[in-house]
Amino acid sequence: MFSLVSFTALMAGIVSAMPTAKREMSPDGVYFPLSNGFPNPSTDATMQIQMDAHGTLPNGPPPSSLSPEGTTNLKLIALNEIFEVAYFSELVYNVTNKVQGYDLGYGHEYVLDALKAIVAQEELHALNANGALQKFNQQPIAPCKYNFPVTDFQSAMSLAGTFTDLVLGTLQDVNQLFAKSGDFGLVRAVSSVIGNEGEQEGFFRLVQKKRPSSQPFLTTAVRDFAFTAIQSFTIPGSCPNINTIPLRTFKALTLMSTNIKPATQNLKFSFAKADANTTDYSTLSLVYINGQNNPVVKSLQNANVEGGNVVFEAAFPYDEFVMDGLTIAAVTKGAGPFADADAVAAATQFGPGLIEFD
Ligand SMILES: *[C@@H]1O[C@H](CO)[C@@H](O)[C@H](O)[C@H]1NC(C)=O
Ligand SMILES: *[C@@H]1O[C@H](CO)[C@@H](O)[C@H](O)[C@H]1NC(C)=O
Repeated sequence: MFSLVSFTALMAGIVSAMPTAKREMSPDGVYFPLSNGFPNPSTDATMQIQMDAHGTLPNGPPPSSLSPEGTTNLKLIALNEIFEVAYFSELVYNVTNKVQGYDLGYGHEYVLDALKAIVAQEELHALNANGALQKFNQQPIAPCKYNFPVTDFQSAMSLAGTFTDLVLGTLQDVNQLFAKSGDFGLVRAVSSVIGNEGEQEGFFRLVQKKRPSSQPFLTTAVRDFAFTAIQSFTIPGSCPNINTIPLRTFKALTLMSTNIKPATQNLKFSFAKADANTTDYSTLSLVYINGQNNPVVKSLQNANVEGGNVVFEAAFPYDEFVMDGLTIAAVTKGAGPFADADAVAAATQFGPGLIEFD
């Protein structure tokens, strides 16, 4: 559904170079229930999760009301956190068992300890969101089946760093919507989760030998982008109640350029011709979202139909805006101007393409 510069390129190499090791923890993409009962742990199991997470679930009362937008926020958070529990649980499994590509040698204990804390912390994030949904008589979000496109530790860290950056942007949107909708009682707790995810991001960056902090104002995102991206890791049709989440799923935008250096250049993208409702590609734009800046709108250049795909280039103005950290790319109907990321999402047809620099 979406593409990552670094791991799409990596995968191309890995798939041809190495037979894929057996996926032992998750036969057929089934990760849940975990051995501790998650997503429905007993009281004793929850106490153990809290020990492993180095802290407890918030024990204060929930707010007295929850808006419809706030409900959607909690559903998206639960969907995302359960996906993260699946991902990091398997990562712990792979590192623990020194699965091919995951034998770390030096640093093994430290990394494993860090990852185990992350699993337990993500479990509590998910339990907290689903618990709040239940208090407001909403169905808790159920796990899907998943399929992760990584088979070694470095690409697993790169992918974790990228989806966590998207979450860090999306939780900004979540907090803004809570505030706008009068759900201010949830802003503090979600802000504390943003900090936790930011700490995790620093760790993912460190083990990739990147400096821990990426950019002064982290890239913002919109819920629909995260909703679409999460589904690229789920097995289609396997999410029992994802249909209760009223968010949009965009068609795929593929970033074709590989090994992109942080520099001003043209980038190459493609999308499926059949998914465009036009053949006049000059009516579409390529939009970049980075930091807290106004969305940057570029025209589609050299659009060509190749096979079933429309392949095109667009200018990437790295130097003008110092576009480090995460950049979100989307193809929109029209050229805006777009006041903010929400306006981009409202006009998006294809996306998100995710570009990450050191
Ligand atoms: C764990 O290893 C298996 C086998 O290589 C791989 O298929 C799976 O994607 C890995 N999971 C993670 C989260 O790294
Ligand atoms: C294309 O048009 C159909 C029917 O009008 C609409 O449902 C769909 O959302 C459109 N697709 C895009 C990518 O705008």
